[in-house]
Amino acid sequence: MIEKFLCKKDDALLDALRKINGNGKGVVFVTEADRLCGILTDGDIRRLLLNGHNLSERIEGLVKKEFVYAKQSEEYSQIIKKFSPYIRIIPVVDEGFRVVDYAECKTNVHVPLVSPDLTGNELEYLVEAFLSTWISSSGDYLGKFEKMFADFCECQYGVAVSNGTVALHLALMALGVGKGDEVIVPDLTFAATVNSVLHAQGTPVIVDVEKDSWCIDPAEIEKAITAKTKAIIPVHLYGQPCDIQAIMDIAKAHNLFVIEDCAEAHGALFDGKKVGSFGDIGCFSFFGNKIITTGEGGMCVTDSEKLDEKMRVIRDHGMSKTKKYWHEVVGYNYRMTNLQAAIGVGQLERIDDIISARGKIEERYRRELGREKLIEFQRNDLPRRKKITWLVSVLIKNGIKEACMSKLKERKIDIRPFFYPLSQMDIYKKYTFSNRVSCQLSEQGITFPTTANLNEDVFRVIKEVIKESAEKMSVSS
Ligand SMILES: Cc1ncc(COP(=O)(O)O)c(C=O)c1O
Repeated sequence: MIEKFLCKKDDALLDALRKINGNGKGVVFVTEADRLCGILTDGDIRRLLLNGHNLSERIEGLVKKEFVYAKQSEEYSQIIKKFSPYIRIIPVVDEGFRVVDYAECKTNVHVPLVSPDLTGNELEYLVEAFLSTWISSSGDYLGKFEKMFADFCECQYGVAVSNGTVALHLALMALGVGKGDEVIVPDLTFAATVNSVLHAQGTPVIVDVEKDSWCIDPAEIEKAITAKTKAIIPVHLYGQPCDIQAIMDIAKAHNLFVIEDCAEAHGALFDGKKVGSFGDIGCFSFFGNKIITTGEGGMCVTDSEKLDEKMRVIRDHGMSKTKKYWHEVVGYNYRMTNLQAAIGVGQLERIDDIISARGKIEERYRRELGREKLIEFQRNDLPRRKKITWLVSVLIKNGIKEACMSKLKERKIDIRPFFYPLSQMDIYKKYTFSNRVSCQLSEQGITFPTTANLNEDVFRVIKEVIKESAEKMSVSS
């Protein structure tokens, strides 16, 4: 395979051009007695021809003697530093200076926002579940997944469901939230939080978030409570725990239910205790971009045997657990399949490693971009809270967010804006209580690709884009 890149110094320029045409990479490595002695690119050949050379001339004497290469023994992290906007492919040599491979920097590949880590036993368990023929919502993996996830959350019970949105709806139903009941939700969240309240026919009350944590503000919750308030749904946003103890204290004082929306925060801690274990019910999502995934999927966790039982009944068409086809309440089909649960078990076996790997991605961003004045990272130093990394989330200052986003997209780096405040959307506007901080944050917030194996180029491009956008802004203002 490396043969496609090799020319001898006695070959003609035409031979080199043929090789370049064959390997499609625009470069050949030139050898003398099997040792690397030079590099020739299609651009070099073009310039030689323009300077009056011809294709029958021998490469020797025309090839540059100074070139970039990597040693086989070098670490990937060292090799990657050798690339530049002009040097995209370099030869890799062994101890005898023989070319054994090449290293390529692919800047133009799409850098996805997230990609699930399915490298454990997921496939094996999925196949096992498939071959067992228990592919619907009964089977060994379901009970196992529920038990393992409840244990992970330090809760007694886990009820697996088909996604995170219905987990919230199921929780509201089990707590008896319905028509006329007000449910306090944060302005800055994914729409599923507020939609679930509307699905339950409750009335959402949208309140503002804290400036530091970006999560629902307990002071705003307190102000928004009325005689109709029945529940609070705090969201642990972008992996950051809310001030959940303060929220629990408020709920206790006013006799309110708390449903924690933990869709983005599996494993985050408050006072050393897992999110999801504070409220009456904790709801999780296992969508493909979440900390762990089952494709689509969700879970409700609780310490209440009564709520666990209620949720199981509502999840399964409202059917009695003791009398088949006897329906006690109007229920739903919110069940998870055994196939999804099999993937979930594979994921859960490695959840601590997955969380730690995501944390390392964020640390790397902080190392690489921490000195950029226009980037402000999500706080990771708030007292009592230990965030996890869902998506690496930052604020981009000085009004250059939109410019940065479009330039990064052009350069194939998949970034996302923060959620729009619910209060800005026509369908939710009327439920707004307060929203000032949410609007400010949403105007500045973006999430960076949070995938393993990001190469240096991503950070270089982000720095370049921020610089260009800031310059453009200062010129135009
Ligand atoms: C805060 C929040 N709540 C709820 C959900 C809903 O989860 P799902 O997509 O699994 O329905 C999400 C998912 O994106 C979310 O981010």
